[in-house]
Amino acid sequence: MNKYKKDFPIFQNRQAVMPLIYLDSAATSQKPQVVIDAVVEYYQTYNANIHRGVYAIAEKATEKVEEVRKKVAKFINANDSSEIVFTHGTTEAINLIAASLCKRPRKGRGILLSEMEHHSNLVPWQHYARVAGMPVGYLAFDGKSGKLTGEIVSEGRNKKNTDINNYSIISLTHVSNVLGTVNDVAHFAKNIRDNEETSVLIIDAAQSVPHMKVDVQDLGCDFLAFSGHKMFSPSGIGILWGRKNILNTLDPLLFGSQMIKEVTLHHVTYQDSPERFESGTLPIEGIIGFGAAIDYLSEIGMNTIRTHEKNLIGYTLEQLRKISGLTTYGPKNINEHSGVISFNLDGVHPHDVAQILGQSNICVRAGHHCAMPLHKKLGVPATVRVSLNIYNDDEDIDALIRGLKEVKKVFSIH
Ligand SMILES: Cc1ncc(COP(=O)(O)O)c(C=O)c1O
Repeated sequence: MNKYKKDFPIFQNRQAVMPLIYLDSAATSQKPQVVIDAVVEYYQTYNANIHRGVYAIAEKATEKVEEVRKKVAKFINANDSSEIVFTHGTTEAINLIAASLCKRPRKGRGILLSEMEHHSNLVPWQHYARVAGMPVGYLAFDGKSGKLTGEIVSEGRNKKNTDINNYSIISLTHVSNVLGTVNDVAHFAKNIRDNEETSVLIIDAAQSVPHMKVDVQDLGCDFLAFSGHKMFSPSGIGILWGRKNILNTLDPLLFGSQMIKEVTLHHVTYQDSPERFESGTLPIEGIIGFGAAIDYLSEIGMNTIRTHEKNLIGYTLEQLRKISGLTTYGPKNINEHSGVISFNLDGVHPHDVAQILGQSNICVRAGHHCAMPLHKKLGVPATVRVSLNIYNDDEDIDALIRGLKEVKKVFSIH
């Protein structure tokens, strides 16, 4: 077992039954013992609600949660911890931004997304754009290279909508959850800024923050959304980072509880960020586990993680390409590739591939991975997706390759 795998008890615990080959970290990551311990410690020694009680355990819980907010701010190089909003995940964070920004559309200006977005960075925008009457355009990607081309496609190929200056909101994925493409959003942000000072740039970082160093100042974006459960933390907790001057002008998504400054029977005023957006009781144990996850990631180092994953991407692609009839999608250059690799095997439905691999405890995902327009562009209804993490190694990939050979045998494919 590699040294990182040993930190994740699920691998030891499954060993006696059948070794667990977990290649589905893009869906959710496994949890290290340190995260599990932090959650158990909270429940066993200082379980209380936060920002309310004045007794010792409530103060300790509040302190721990606010410590995590500072840790997250440092982790992504935010200017201030008040720019860190706890949400339930990436999906909620993007919904919050979309609901609020689309309330004040700029005349004739629309929303620019890309063809490779996860539904969570697509459907909220489509919904609120429809409500506000805003046009939606898409940055195209090239099916062969898996990269954004810079071309803008829009409904009805309306020529006016292919000009970037017609968009005041731009929301893009940093890393594709299907192609593994690492988009050069910093370069893109610079181009937008050169064109239009007042555009707002939102980055869906669900698949990047867990796997590489992400610095919001370097990216040059205004908002960043990501989920804890994909980065070793418990589920139910995610982050919206935003620039303070914009955050404090946005309407909340949820109303009630502690997000108010003052309420009368006829009037209400809201707090500033982050309280403004954190209505109701937060998933406290999730936040505390998230803090332990950030400590764990920081101890290993994001550059070490990226290097480990890059080596493994190289090995995985090399081995997959030796299998005849197998097509991989996504960039050829490993520097532009994250640890998400999707493929299809001629003559076998992706679900059958995943099911047969699953019989050997090899966990991969099959389907459209919440990216139907992307698959339409590729011309396939579904793909098999392998996604890597620090606890994976060459042996896992060797098991995958043996499993794929077995799939071919079952379907009598040579
Ligand atoms: C790129 C991307 N964006 C958004 C999401 C949604 O994340 P969550 O389900 O944690 O809200 C995912 C999840 O797979 C994703 O991969």
